[in-house]
Amino acid sequence: MKNQKEKVTQVFDDIALKSSWESLYSGKIDRISYNFVTRQRAVEALLESCASGKALDLGCGSGDLVRFYSQKEVFYTGVDLSSQMIKRANVNYSDLVREGKAIFQVADCENLPFKDGEFNLLSAVALIEYLSDPSKVLNEINRVLKCGGYALITVPNKKCINSRIRSLLKPINSLLFPLYLRLKKSSLATMKDVKHHSYDQKEIDALMKNKGFEKVDCRYANFHIIAYPLDHLIPKIYIGLSELIVNRKLDKVFKNWSSNYIALYRKG
Ligand SMILES: C[S@@+](CC[C@H](N)C(=O)[O-])C[C@H]1O[C@@H](n2cnc3c(N)ncnc32)[C@H](O)[C@@H]1O
Repeated sequence: MKNQKEKVTQVFDDIALKSSWESLYSGKIDRISYNFVTRQRAVEALLESCASGKALDLGCGSGDLVRFYSQKEVFYTGVDLSSQMIKRANVNYSDLVREGKAIFQVADCENLPFKDGEFNLLSAVALIEYLSDPSKVLNEINRVLKCGGYALITVPNKKCINSRIRSLLKPINSLLFPLYLRLKKSSLATMKDVKHHSYDQKEIDALMKNKGFEKVDCRYANFHIIAYPLDHLIPKIYIGLSELIVNRKLDKVFKNWSSNYIALYRKG
């Protein structure tokens, strides 16, 4: 039987082979891509103030955060366990690779092939939830970052009311959600095959503090005021309300409706 890491690799290899990951960031907004695009928006807003030098993007997928880093003239290294994701990234951003502004390589974030203190900045977007135990990657993040360097981490928010409703509806959900994705011909359906871990804000902040990081700032993204399964049936209302919260800067007020916690830490 496959372990979690092997399953994750296979699932993301399959998704990359169907070349659907980067399409999430292509600009077309639907109920699924909305969550990815808005999380990315919040990530970029937090990184804005500290983007300089050399950045490492852990679990980079098809490498779509490189566009932001290259605009900031930051030298980008993206790593992922999935060789197919790395292939896609190398094809999609071949111009940046050719110009010497970016490197994409296969690597396990729990055992990074980099020297101590090599990077000024690190991002781990939608990665930690796939790891059985976050302590190994947090040790590696600490090791490869310079003192005073920044780490941005996103995790699914355990306190999200919508996630709690989903887990109550799990037996029905496990039938309906993959069916919905398959009907929409989305290869993301295979993501249900791997375990996700959620964290509450205090938990991840405490883990980072134990490794010697102080929190600089945080945001929440994707507000499920319209709860599952209605959010899928009336996506326009779900997206509209979520946008309203972000535009009015009410993200911290509605944090328990948010499915993503995004935090920026500084290594002491
Ligand atoms: C949900 S995707 C996120 C991709 C990208 N960061 C984004 O936001 O679009 C998670 C990625 O993490 C990668 N991943 C999972 N475990 C990993 C590990 N141990 N080391 C490196 N990458 C890993 C997966 O292969 C996958 O591409």
